Amino acid sequence: MLITFEGIDGSGKSTQIRLLKECLRAHGVEPLALREPGGVPLSERIRALLLEGKEEMGSVTELLLFAASRAELMRTLVKPALERGEVVLLDRFCDSTTAYQGYGRGVDLDVIRQVNRIASLGIEPDLTFYLDLLPEDALIRKFSEKSLPLAFGENEIPLDRMESAGLEFYRRAREGYKALAREHSHRVVEIDALRSINDVHKQIVATLRQRVPQLFSASSETR
Ligand SMILES: Nc1ncnc2c1ncn2[C@@H]1O[C@H](COP(=O)(O)OP(=O)(O)OP(=O)(O)O)[C@@H](O)[C@H]1O
Ligand SMILES: [Mg+2]
Repeated sequence: MLITFEGIDGSGKSTQIRLLKECLRAHGVEPLALREPGGVPLSERIRALLLEGKEEMGSVTELLLFAASRAELMRTLVKPALERGEVVLLDRFCDSTTAYQGYGRGVDLDVIRQVNRIASLGIEPDLTFYLDLLPEDALIRKFSEKSLPLAFGENEIPLDRMESAGLEFYRRAREGYKALAREHSHRVVEIDALRSINDVHKQIVATLRQRVPQLFSASSETR
C-alpha cells in the first residue's frame, strides 16, 4: 500500500516518516521510505536542478521536471514494491504538484491532473497524511533548523529555490492542500502540524490502526 505525506516545507513530513518507519518496523513491517523529488540517482539529479539551481525556471518546466523525477521513481522502485505487496511511505507525491505548481505557481489544474496521472503511472495513494501548518510557523521551524537568526536581508536568505519563493507562494500552496483535503476527504487525513512531534505521530499511528489494522496484527513487538 502507498502512504503519502504532504504539507509545506517544514511541516514535519520527514520527521513523521522516520517515526512511522521505526514504529512499523517494531511491528515486523519493513516499509520502503522514499522522498520526492529524488529517491533514485536520476531523480536525485533532477532534484538538484529543481532545488539548487538559481536560474529562472518557467512553471511548466518546473512541473515537467518534478514529473520526470516522479516517473523514474515510480518505474524503478515504487511500482515494483507495491506489486510485491510492500508498504511504501512517500515524502511528497502528486498533491505537492497540485499545491505548489497548481495553486502556488498558477499552472492550469487540468494540466496538473494530466501530468500527475502520467508521472504517477496512474497509481494513487491509499492514504495521505496532510500536515497542516501556517507558512509563518513553518518558516520559524526552518530557520531554527538551520540555526539562522530570523532577520535576514532579502537576497541573503540561504533557502533552496522552492523555499525562496516567498510567503505568498506558500499561502497559496497551503490553500491548495486545504482544497485537496476537502475534495479527497476519503483519502486525505488532515493533521494539525503545530502539535508536538509525538502528538502528531500518535495521531498517524491511531489512524493507521483504525484504517489498516492488519499492519499491526503481524506484531513482533515484545513490549
Ligand atoms: N510537530 C513539530 N513541532 C515542532 N517542531 C517540529 C515538529 N515536526 C517537525 N519539527 C521540526 O521542524 C523542522 C522541519 O521538520 P521536517 O524536516 O520533518 O519537515 P519537512 O516537512 O520534511 O520539511 P521539508 O519539506 O523542507 O523537507 C525540523 O527541525 C523538525 O525537527
Ligand atoms: Mg523533509
